[in-house]
Amino acid sequence: MKEKFEELMKKDIVNILAIESSCDETAASVVCNGRKVLSNVVSSQIEIHQKFGGVVPEVASRNHIANVYDVACEAVLKSGLNFENIDAIAVTYGAGLMGALLVGVNFAKGLAYALKKPLLAVSHVEGHIAANYITHEKLEPPFTCLMVSGGHTCLFDVKSYTEFNLIGQSVDDAAGEAFDKVARVLGLPYPGGPNIDKKAKLGEDNIVFKHRNNLKNTLDFSFSGIKTAIMSYVNSLKQSGEEVNVNNICASFQSYVANELSTKAIRACKEQSSTKLVVAGGVSANSKLKEVLTEKCKENGVELFMPELKFCGDNAAMIGSQAYFNLKTGKGLAEMDLTAKSRLIPKWTNIKN
Ligand code: KG4
Ligand code: ZN
Repeated sequence: MKEKFEELMKKDIVNILAIESSCDETAASVVCNGRKVLSNVVSSQIEIHQKFGGVVPEVASRNHIANVYDVACEAVLKSGLNFENIDAIAVTYGAGLMGALLVGVNFAKGLAYALKKPLLAVSHVEGHIAANYITHEKLEPPFTCLMVSGGHTCLFDVKSYTEFNLIGQSVDDAAGEAFDKVARVLGLPYPGGPNIDKKAKLGEDNIVFKHRNNLKNTLDFSFSGIKTAIMSYVNSLKQSGEEVNVNNICASFQSYVANELSTKAIRACKEQSSTKLVVAGGVSANSKLKEVLTEKCKENGVELFMPELKFCGDNAAMIGSQAYFNLKTGKGLAEMDLTAKSRLIPKWTNIKN
């Protein structure tokens, strides 16, 4: 397959079929030259997982198995191409839920083998960043990136399309995870982020949840302290029979998270002497985060890039995009022994502090 991969590196027009199944969305997309989305199919399992209050990994895997073939066929059909004139098959191999990832990886392997096309392995996090190349057709690295999703909260110094230097990350919960957990405490349905966002619009940012945060002067984040503080706050109100003002709690929590993320993203830009900030991942859909970042970027002379709403959450177009940029730098070719990895970014260590 190496020869075919090298031929593709030189080809002017490259159409990639990408598969994404790292969590609870089964997705497939055909992307031309990393920026032009020919089709983008996302089959969401949100309704299935909502009754459990969160994603049940085993249930997610089973649903991916049931959906992946139809989703991939629909993506190819909608692209106006056929399986023969797809140039390569890309797939998310990590990070994510092991069983869920394995469904996509094995489906992509089977497809690449049957079609005799190169198989391209893509990191989910890098894919989220690439979603911005689709939305902003002129965007090019280098830039500073704030990656905020259900599984990751990281700051990267993105040196090129394929070089990512981790400069900060959450020491505990990811921002999206904190949104989901706080929503659960407040009795709001999964996924918590969009529901907190809606409620926050009806409330006031007037509650300070007292907690310790020792990371103030670093590029690292911590969200478990505020989450625990909200839990105790809600429990004590309930115990004393007082009203729990869900809207105000949502507005106050959301403002805290948006400020924390924005402050550190701007600090990272300054430290890297970067004039471009790129935001990626599901939490980039948050309205308050967008508002605060827009304001702070303007104040600090930083140009802000955020993905179009439909590319904020999990999708396969972003995977097809990153696969293309990997390919053009000779990276990402996988063999039939490709397996899934639940974690790709090393866990936080205390080296910097
Ligand atoms: O990137 P994503 O779709 O999946 C992962 O890679 O984790 O991110 C999902 C996360 C969930 O935690 C969800 O609650 C959060 O993104 N999210 C939001 C919003 N929309 C989705 N968080 C805050 N505000 C939103 N509007
Ligand atoms: Zn994601």
